[in-house]
Amino acid sequence: MKTIGLFYGSETGNTENAASMIAAQLGEGNVVLHNISECDAQSLLSYDNIILGASTWGFGELQSDWENFLPGFDELDLTGKTVAFFGLGDQVNYADVFLDAMGTIYEKVVERGGQPIGAWPADGYDFSASTAVVDGYFVGLALDADNQDDMTPDRIGSWVAGIQGQLQ
Ligand SMILES: Cc1cc2nc3c(=O)[nH]c(=O)nc-3n(C[C@H](O)[C@H](O)[C@H](O)COP(=O)(O)O)c2cc1C
Repeated sequence: MKTIGLFYGSETGNTENAASMIAAQLGEGNVVLHNISECDAQSLLSYDNIILGASTWGFGELQSDWENFLPGFDELDLTGKTVAFFGLGDQVNYADVFLDAMGTIYEKVVERGGQPIGAWPADGYDFSASTAVVDGYFVGLALDADNQDDMTPDRIGSWVAGIQGQLQ
């Protein structure tokens, strides 16, 4: 398996924490972690396997580092890149816009030619609407550190096991 570039943005540390747990599951030697506040979108091109992690802020908006990072995707050709997503959100207080940032990022990656992997069942969550749901599945791993933090380790374990065979 080739090296995976894991890029995340995090306001209060929840996404950063999930990123570390995902890296541990994949095996530290297989993953390079990037806080997107310290790099630009061109850095993605160093990897054929990419994982993108984002929390949602405002009302269905991107986390602030992602606001700066995502516009750079317009300069990228992601053809041939395998891309997995994970998102952090709050399904209780933001039930109408749960994990919308993950949906926004997914759309941009597909527009730029990336091959998405790692769709995740929407069962076990209680929310009203999310742009991160396509054809009944989340486009990536859905995590809620505010309301279901105890489920995070198992969710990460199953999701990582699922994507491992799809990485290049
Ligand atoms: C002011 C504020 C706005 C938020 N807006 C959303 C939102 O629109 N949708 C959502 O799913 N979660 C929302 N959340 C929840 C965060 O995404 C969640 O707490 C996440 O774990 C934060 O991760 P981070 O610390 O990595 O940024 C919001 C939280 C706060 C405090």
